[in-house]
Formats: sequence, structure tokens, C-alpha cells
Amino acid sequence: MNPASNLILIGPMGAGKSSLGKRLARRYQLSFIDLDQLIEQRTGARIPVIFELEGEAGFRRRESEALQEACKGDGRLIATGGGAVLDAANRDLLRGSGFVVWLRTSVEGQLQRLARDRSRPLLQVADRQRRLREIARQRDPLYRQTCDLEFDTAARRVALASEQLSELVDRHWQRTANAA
Ligand code: S3P
Repeated sequence: MNPASNLILIGPMGAGKSSLGKRLARRYQLSFIDLDQLIEQRTGARIPVIFELEGEAGFRRRESEALQEACKGDGRLIATGGGAVLDAANRDLLRGSGFVVWLRTSVEGQLQRLARDRSRPLLQVADRQRRLREIARQRDPLYRQTCDLEFDTAARRVALASEQLSELVDRHWQRTANAA
């Protein structure tokens, strides 16, 4: 069990980290931080542009920096990007900075939710299903070793998912007071 003042959401693209994160932040009166948005703000460029100019390695460096900044505070709900768990130092930081929830979903669910999305550079391929399966194979063990709690978001409307997730979090999260 992880007593913590921050709640952190990890999981793949299209699992609902941002939409569920906003609702949970309201419920627990946490300030909501979307890591991808923080990266864009700090860089002054959209994520596809960062990938284009600096490659994935450049994006990952910026992602680690943004994560360090986000994890410095208390009383936050941090919605990470799907690849934030790739780096071992990021995983340690996540584990040490909050109660970590892995939002799981199926590849079919991701394909549906992301069908019209053109903003994820890793999905600019002909065979999205294959790409998403490869990513899941690589990352699922990393999500598993980083999280305190798993929650399957598949095939649920966001209002219901957020209700059920809150009930689960209520039972497991030993919330500590924010540092003064
Ligand atoms: C990525 C996920 C994206 C974003 C970037 C890379 C990934 O965030 O950080 O496109 O590696 O899975 P979301 O998980 O919020 O889509």
C-alpha cells in the first residue's frame, strides 16, 4: 500500500487517463496535471512537432523533465503519457511520488477511441492494431510493476467508469495530507 498525497494515472493511449483524471481530480480536490500538455507548454510545440524535430528520444527527454516537475508537488492528479513508464528512473519516480493506478483497456477499445486521432505520432502507421499490440506486449509488464492498483476501463462510459474507479480508489488509497 502506498500512502501518498498524489494520485497518478498510467496506462496506454486511449485508456481514458485524461477524461477519468479530470473527474477524479474534481472528486478528490486535486489539481489536475496532464503530462503531455505540460510538455507542450514547456516546449512551446505540439507533440507531433517534437517527434518530427527531435525524434522519440528527444520527446522522452522532455517527458522525463516534465515528470520530474509534476512530481515535485503535492495534492495533484497526474495523468501521464502512455510511454512514461519506459524509463526506469521515471518508474521509480512514479512509484515514489503517488498512488499509481494503471488504467487498462483492450486494443479493440483503443482502436475505437483513437479512430479519428491524428495527434499520436506512434499511431501514424498503416496497421494500428499491430502497433498497439506490440506496444502493449512491451509495456504491460512495466505498467504492472509500477502500479499500486489496476482498473479496466474497457467498454464503460466515462461517468460509470469514474464512479467505479473512485469506489476502488476510496478503498485502497491511503491519502496523506499535503505538505504545507
Ligand atoms: C505516447 C502517448 C501519448 C503521448 C505521445 C507518446 C506513447 O500520450 O505522450 O504521443 O508513447 O504511448 P497519451 O497516452 O496521453 O495518448
